[in-house]
Amino acid sequence: MSAPYAAAPHAAPPLAAAPVGAPLPAPKHPPRCDAADVPPLPYDEAAALALPPADAARIAATLPLGTRFRLRDALTPIQRAFLDRHGYVVFDRVATRPEVDGILAEVDRIEADLLSAGKSKVYGVPVWFGLDPDGKDFLYRMGFTSVYSAFLAAFVRDLRFEPIRRLIGEDARIGDEEKDGVVFNRYVRAEGSLRPNLAWHTDALRDVFYNRKMPGPMLNVGLHFDRIRPEDGGLRLLPGTHTQGVWSTLFSKIHFVTQTPDRREVAVETWPGDLTVHDGRMWHRVEGSPKTGWESLRRSMYVPYVCDSYQPKSEASATPAYMRLFDAIMRMRSARAKKRLG
Ligand SMILES: [Fe+2]
Repeated sequence: MSAPYAAAPHAAPPLAAAPVGAPLPAPKHPPRCDAADVPPLPYDEAAALALPPADAARIAATLPLGTRFRLRDALTPIQRAFLDRHGYVVFDRVATRPEVDGILAEVDRIEADLLSAGKSKVYGVPVWFGLDPDGKDFLYRMGFTSVYSAFLAAFVRDLRFEPIRRLIGEDARIGDEEKDGVVFNRYVRAEGSLRPNLAWHTDALRDVFYNRKMPGPMLNVGLHFDRIRPEDGGLRLLPGTHTQGVWSTLFSKIHFVTQTPDRREVAVETWPGDLTVHDGRMWHRVEGSPKTGWESLRRSMYVPYVCDSYQPKSEASATPAYMRLFDAIMRMRSARAKKRLG
């Protein structure tokens, strides 16, 4: 074990962190995306950067739901209007391909470290391992990823993300050690896979229960690492539902149970490096890939921007109540799959 991660204000878990600037190895499973498969050009806003909000709203209303935008130094009036209207916005390849590969390689390394250290939780948040298509232990979800990677901690702070941070709040910060930290998700469909999909849900349920009213905007910032066509599964959003009320949040679908596609849903198509912002108050789900094996691999990373008072977690933090049920289900699935596969 090497020295704890220097940038962390609290004692980091006893795992090695890769030094900044060290060359990163290639990831075990680089994204499959051939050079000819280029995304449509982002929407050209060059002549519309100073539009008044009402004009921007009018234009945003005419844009296709699959519009891709370019992240500039600041969010544009049309990008804001699109987000206000539909509850999400997709930015074209904000991370470069070498960065995508570097992050994936870091997660491979962290996965190996977690396994050899026998860790089942990080800062109280369960780490979910299942099996991969080769029958090996495979990381499906972990929180606080940036605590283990100086490369990742530096990457999420890069200046290009400043407009995203300011969209959340002028005083927003990256919560490496708060909430669930930087969450890394990996989905793969295989015998013994832990979760090929994720049913419809909103992120507002907890607030609705505790406060009996809808919370303010809950913007989720996600980075996507794989080429996902609508037919590959992936993120599904129900546009406009971010402004729904309590009743519809509670009753229009059953949280984490309803799986049926909705005819109004949008399939978010991604190229490696794309960045999405979606309001967690909207209905969203992950459609499983119809493929099996490594072809079904899909990876995403969510960066927590926090505005509340600083509430860091540590290795002494208790597992949040809402995670315990999920954790029990995931552990049961994992044990069952391992038994089945011998
Ligand atoms: Fe969610």
